[in-house]
Amino acid sequence: MKGWMGRFRALFLLSGLTLLLSGCGKPYLSALQPKGEGSEMLFNLMLLSIGIMIFVFLVVMVIYIYVVLKFRQKKGQEDHIPKQTEGSHVLETIWTVIPIILLLILAVPTVQYTFALSDTKNVPEDQEDAIWIEVTGQQYWWHFDYKDLNIQTSQELYIPTDQRVYLELTSKDVIHSFWIPTISGKMDTNPIENKNEMWIHAYEEGVYWGKCAELCGPSHSLMDFKVVAVSPGEFEQWVEDMQNVNPDEEPETVVAKEGKELFQQNSCAACHAVGSSPVAVGPNLTSFGDRTTVAGIMDYNKENIVNWLMDPEKYKPGNKMSNNYPALSEEEAGKIAEYLMTLKPSEIGLDDAEDGDYIKSQKDENNNEENTQDQE
Ligand code: CUA
Repeated sequence: MKGWMGRFRALFLLSGLTLLLSGCGKPYLSALQPKGEGSEMLFNLMLLSIGIMIFVFLVVMVIYIYVVLKFRQKKGQEDHIPKQTEGSHVLETIWTVIPIILLLILAVPTVQYTFALSDTKNVPEDQEDAIWIEVTGQQYWWHFDYKDLNIQTSQELYIPTDQRVYLELTSKDVIHSFWIPTISGKMDTNPIENKNEMWIHAYEEGVYWGKCAELCGPSHSLMDFKVVAVSPGEFEQWVEDMQNVNPDEEPETVVAKEGKELFQQNSCAACHAVGSSPVAVGPNLTSFGDRTTVAGIMDYNKENIVNWLMDPEKYKPGNKMSNNYPALSEEEAGKIAEYLMTLKPSEIGLDDAEDGDYIKSQKDENNNEENTQDQE
């Protein structure tokens, strides 16, 4: 028994590892579980190339095993040297032509999809008022400007599920790469004039994770954002809510009011806009209270907001906010956090989302819970 186990130890290890690694795909962050038009196209390309690979592998293995068995050294023929062949026009032509055909099968759809995925010129006729959003990457956060709608958000990109949404991509500093694995492919954001364009289209409602996919500094791996895909009706509601924000509205609680004053006194307001504003030195905070994460990476709760405000450098090394405002006491940071958490213009807010694997059903549960609490 032991010998048998020992002999297959490598096999056990490998299959265990396969199981372990196959658990890595998270539905909100996996190109292998496509939830959008673009990612579906890319997934089909992956299936096609894997199919071709398996086909080639099988053919080679069959020929290999056949040859090994057929031409192996037989007993009593140890000195026998089989017929030696050098060069064969037929065979050489075959094994040159087959790879060319296989490469063509791969190349044609790949090139086709590459152009189709960034095709923003041929907007469908029924989508004349298509939504265009300017995406700006900055160390280490994302700004989204819905130009025609006069809405700005940061870190969370709201889109409707029923259509392609068109993006214009640019950068304020170095090259970043905009990538929502579950929804679409990557696109670089360049700091120079040439703006890249692409479209995204989410099939299902949910919160999907976006990543920066171009090494851009010490906090590159922390340059996350979220895409919140909502139904067309909810999106309309969101647009209306965002357009009706009154940045001068006073918060209800005393603590939050004090927080707002501190926010203005401590020069937070010099970089962070609340409401529609061209100021975008730091992330726009209009809908901060609706966010699913703090700084794109931490669970959304007061404690994390306070931690972030007191020492952003600890959580995102090299970010531009560090040391750019007077040091805050825990009490002050707490008050500012209270204020920020009141910035919830949208009724379809995603509050209570606790971690990344947030999906629509969870939002419904949370909303129900909230409703019951409200009634009590
Ligand atoms: Cu931005 Cu990596």
